[in-house]
Amino acid sequence: MSADDFIVTPWHVEGDIDYDKLVQKFGTEKISVELQNRIKKITGEDHFMLRRGIFFSHREMNRILDDYEKGNKFFLYTGRGPSGHTHIGHLIPWAFAKWLQKKFDVNMYFQLTDDEKFFSKPNLTLEDTEKFAYENALDFIALGFNPEKTKIIINTKNIQTLYPIAAQVAKKINFSNTKATFGFTNETNLGMIFYTSLQSAPCFIEDKPVLIPLGVDQDPHFRLTRDIAPKIGKPKPALIHNIMIPALEGPGGKMSASDENGTVYTTDAPNVVKKKINKYAFSGGRPDIEEHRRLGGNPDIDVSYQYLRIFFEPDDNKLRSIYEDYKSGKLLSGELKAILIEKINTFLAVHQEKREKAREKIDQFLFENK
Ligand code: TYM
Repeated sequence: MSADDFIVTPWHVEGDIDYDKLVQKFGTEKISVELQNRIKKITGEDHFMLRRGIFFSHREMNRILDDYEKGNKFFLYTGRGPSGHTHIGHLIPWAFAKWLQKKFDVNMYFQLTDDEKFFSKPNLTLEDTEKFAYENALDFIALGFNPEKTKIIINTKNIQTLYPIAAQVAKKINFSNTKATFGFTNETNLGMIFYTSLQSAPCFIEDKPVLIPLGVDQDPHFRLTRDIAPKIGKPKPALIHNIMIPALEGPGGKMSASDENGTVYTTDAPNVVKKKINKYAFSGGRPDIEEHRRLGGNPDIDVSYQYLRIFFEPDDNKLRSIYEDYKSGKLLSGELKAILIEKINTFLAVHQEKREKAREKIDQFLFENK
C-alpha cells in the first residue's frame, strides 16, 4: 500500500480513496461550483451526479465548453474492459455519457478492450473476453444511446482502424513513461506495455476534440495520451471523472467484476440481488437494534446508502430523509437495505428487458472498418 493508504490505477484500486488527495496526485482539477453552473446553464439541467460530486474532477472540460459555445462540436468516447458481466459501477460513466450525448447531440464511441483483459487476466482466453465484449455491449446499448451517432469498437475486430493511430501514439511513449505510470516490471507482458496506445487510439478517431466521461481509475492512460497529443499534432483529450462505487463489502475500494460477492451484476436475478445486499453490504448500523435506535447509524460509511446516493436515488428530498432517518436511528439497517434492494430490482427489471432487445440492435452499433 502507498503512503496515502490507497491505490488507484487502471488495474488495481485498494483502500479508502481520498478524492481530494487523488486530484492532487493525478494533477486533475476538481469540478468547481462555477463549472457545475456552467454545465447546468448550457444543458438546462442540474444533473444529480454533478450536484452530488459523483463526477468530481476533470481535465479541460472548460475548453470543450468554450469550443462548443463557439459552435465547434466535440465527440464522446468511453469504454469497457470485458473481463466479466457488467456491474452497476460501470453504468455510472455510461449513464452520464448517455446524458451528455442527449444534451450536446454529439457522436459517441464505445471501446471494448477484449485484448486488454486477455493480457491482464491470466485465466481468461480471447474467446472469453470476446464473449463478454458482446454481453457488455448489450448493457451499453440498453442505456439508450442514439443509434445514428454511436459506434461500438471491439479491439480485435477493429484493429485495422485502430492500428495506424495506435502506432502514432506508441512511437511517442517510451518504456520508462509507461513503467512510471503503471508500475510495470520486467515480468509484465508486451501486450500490456503496448496497450495504452490502443486505449488512446479512439481519442483521435475523428478530427475533433474528444470528451471522455470515465471512472478516475482510468485517468493514467489518458495522462499519457494528453502528453503525446501535441507531438502528433492532435488536440489533448478532455476528461470528466467519476468516483468509484465501493464493493458491497466496502466501505473503501471499488466494485470489481472479478469479485463475485462484492458485486451486483446487471444480469443478477432479483433474489440474487436481495441475497447479496442482505448478506454482504457493509452496514453503518449499530450491532443491535436497541443501540441503533438510541445512537443512530452512520450513513456516510454505509454501502447501501452510498449506492442510493451515487446512482439509485436521484431525488434529493427522498435521499435526505433516508439519511436523516438512518442517522437518528429511526431507520434500521435491514430497512435501508430493503429500500436499496427494491430500487436496484426495479431498475434491473427494466434494464434487463432493454438488454435483451439490444441483441437485435447490436449490428447497427458495431463499428465497420473502412
Ligand atoms: P473497466 O471495464 O474497468 O470499467 C469500465 C468503466 O467503468 C468505470 N468503473 C467504475 N466506475 C465506478 N465505480 C466502479 N466500481 C467502477 N469500476 C469501473 C471505469 O472507470 C470505466 O470508465 N481499460 C478500460 C476500458 C476502456 C475505457 C476507455 C474506459 C477502454 N477505453 C475509455 C474509459 C474510457 C477498462 O478496463 O474499464
